[in-house]
Amino acid sequence: MLLAGRKGLVLNVTNKNSIGWACAEAAARHGAQVGVGAQNDRMLERVEALTKEHEGMSTFVVDFGDDAQLQKLANDVGERYGKIDFLVHSAAFAKKEDLEGRFIDTSRDGFALALDVSSYSLVALCKSLEPCFNEDASVMCMSYLGSVRSVGNYNVMGVAKAALESSVRYLAQDLGPKGIRVNTISPGPINTVAARGVKGLLGMIDYVQERAPLKRSFGQEEVAGAAVYLMSDLSKGVTGQVIYVDSGYNTVGM
Ligand SMILES: NC(=O)c1ccc[n+]([C@@H]2O[C@H](COP(=O)([O-])OP(=O)(O)OC[C@H]3O[C@@H](n4cnc5c(N)ncnc54)[C@H](O)[C@@H]3O)[C@@H](O)[C@H]2O)c1
Repeated sequence: MLLAGRKGLVLNVTNKNSIGWACAEAAARHGAQVGVGAQNDRMLERVEALTKEHEGMSTFVVDFGDDAQLQKLANDVGERYGKIDFLVHSAAFAKKEDLEGRFIDTSRDGFALALDVSSYSLVALCKSLEPCFNEDASVMCMSYLGSVRSVGNYNVMGVAKAALESSVRYLAQDLGPKGIRVNTISPGPINTVAARGVKGLLGMIDYVQERAPLKRSFGQEEVAGAAVYLMSDLSKGVTGQVIYVDSGYNTVGM
C-alpha cells in the first residue's frame, strides 16, 4: 500500500471515464483517503454515486472560476482532513467553437476563459490550499502534447496547457522549499467527456495508437499509475517535470 495513511484531493470528476476518477480509485486502492471534486451541485449527484462505493472517499464541490469557492474548499479541507498529502488538478474548459477550425479565430473572451479555467486555476488552487499541504505533499495536473506541438483543433487549449506546464515549473520553485513537489502528467488522447469537445477526437486516438512505439492502447489506468507514483514517496526527488503517458508517441519523429 504505497499511500497508506495519506489524504488528498482529486479535482474534478464528471463520470467513471474521467481521468480524475481513475486517479481517485487508484489512490484509494493504495490506501489513501480521497476527496473527490464535482464542479457544481448538479454534477455532484453523479460523483457521489461513484464515491459511495468506496470507503474513505468523500466529495467536495468546487468551480475553479470562483475565488470564494476556492477559499471555501480550503476551509472545508482543513476541517475535514487537517492537512493533505496530494492534490490532483484534473480539469479544463474551452468554448466548443474554440476547439475546431482555425486557432487564429479564437476570441479574446474565449482565450481568457480557457486560460482562466484550465491554467490559472492551478495557481489559485495551490495558493488557497497552501496552508493545508503537508510537508512533502505532491501536486499534479493533466496536460497534453498540444502544449508543445500544434495539434489540429486543439487550438486555444494547447496554449492553455503551455501556460499550465509553465505554471508547474514556477509553482515547483515556490513550493519546493516546503518540500512540496509539483508535476505535470501529459496523457495521450483518451475518450472522455472533455476530450470529445475537441473535434475529431476518435481519429486522434487511432492515429496515436497506430504510431506510438508501444503498439497498444493506453487509457485512464495508465495515467492513474503515473499519478500514484507522483503521490507516493517513490517520486520524492521529482518536481517541475512533465511525464508523458502516451505509449511513447511524443518521442516519435518519422
Ligand atoms: N482525455 C484526454 O484525451 C486528455 C488528454 C490529456 C489531458 N487531459 C486532461 O485531463 C484532465 C481531465 O479531463 P478528462 O479527459 O478526464 O475529462 P472530464 O470531462 O472527465 O473531466 C474534466 C473535468 O473538468 C471539470 N471542469 C471544467 N470546468 C471547470 C470549472 N470551471 N471548475 C472546476 N472544474 C471544471 C469538469 O467538471 C470535469 O470534471 C483535463 O485537464 C484534460 O485537459 C485529457
